Amino acid sequence: MSDVHGKNYIDLVGGINVANVGHRHPKVIEAINKQMDAYLHIMVYGEFVETPQVQYAKLLTDHLPHSLNSVYFTNSGAEAIEGAMKLAKRVTGRSRVIAFNKSYHGSTQGALSIMGSEYWRNAFRPLLPGILHEDYGSFEALAVITGQTACVVVETVQAEAGIIAPSISWIQELRKKCTETGALLILDEVQAGFGRTGKLWGFEHFGFVPDILVLGKALGGGLPLGAFIADRELMGAFTNSPVLGHITTFGGHPLSCAAGMAAMNVLLHDALMDDVFQKEALFKSLLGYSKIKNVRSFGLWLAVEFDSVETNSKVITACIDGGVLTDWFLFSPESLRISPPLTISDAQIEKCCMAILTGI
Ligand SMILES: Cc1ncc(COP(=O)(O)O)c(C=O)c1O
Repeated sequence: MSDVHGKNYIDLVGGINVANVGHRHPKVIEAINKQMDAYLHIMVYGEFVETPQVQYAKLLTDHLPHSLNSVYFTNSGAEAIEGAMKLAKRVTGRSRVIAFNKSYHGSTQGALSIMGSEYWRNAFRPLLPGILHEDYGSFEALAVITGQTACVVVETVQAEAGIIAPSISWIQELRKKCTETGALLILDEVQAGFGRTGKLWGFEHFGFVPDILVLGKALGGGLPLGAFIADRELMGAFTNSPVLGHITTFGGHPLSCAAGMAAMNVLLHDALMDDVFQKEALFKSLLGYSKIKNVRSFGLWLAVEFDSVETNSKVITACIDGGVLTDWFLFSPESLRISPPLTISDAQIEKCCMAILTGI
């Protein structure tokens, strides 16, 4: 990547977990060009069915557990969260929602209502009623899930908290509690999806399946796209009373679907996930330095924690000056973000780690 002055950068954040297959992959550009020559937006409320949407939905569901067989494409991750929460309300006939502290699910008002920080929510009240925020990973917190809960919205790995992974036993207990009470489990994989964790989907590490899966970011291969995915029986609730349960003009735009499908095919066929753990280990070995407080990671997705926000800002500025693009986390401002394209080379990793260490 280069800026307006022609200065080159190594992208250490991938547009925040978007460019998993790198920037402007030739296969993605080819798919966009081909679709551009065919058609752009057309009438989408059932009169016509767009081939790129259908093909991409098929590719996605072919690589998901059987119960995640119906895809609703949106414009963004936030819109997918909105759709998923609406679907849960419609299916269960309940309205209470449980979310977690230090979670980020988007900036629209429903997504903002479940954001895990009063600092970010407060200026925009009144927001959605009936939301409870609990501590991620807390077993006691699971007691608040009852027969009145429409859904629990949770990230597979808490991204903006600075890469906080749950224990397998906690997330499985959460799944169990949702099943027992009839609350739907909505899993936000907007950042965790598409190979970032070393598996195609983050939830594969934890041995459970959500009721609704929310995707975004890398889903569009660099173009805007989100999706919520559920069983056809659940999704069917959007076909009646009211007839169009969620309406979106551009959601699942044919260019975005063509680009996203090409990117997912690159991810699968070029086996980009194969080196994730080796690259994660390389980062960790090179960042083993006493002035770094902690390095948390889950695949090619790391948070480098410093002793203070000031140190982190200093390192980030030095990195950017030195041609390494990085930033911080919303709820962990003392941590530096590492979520590069999965194509990053060992030599680039070494260069990035050198930039971080010399910036301290
Ligand atoms: C975990 C998570 N969920 C949802 C969203 C919202 O996605 P979008 O920015 O596409 O609306 C984000 C965006 O950063 C995110 O990180």
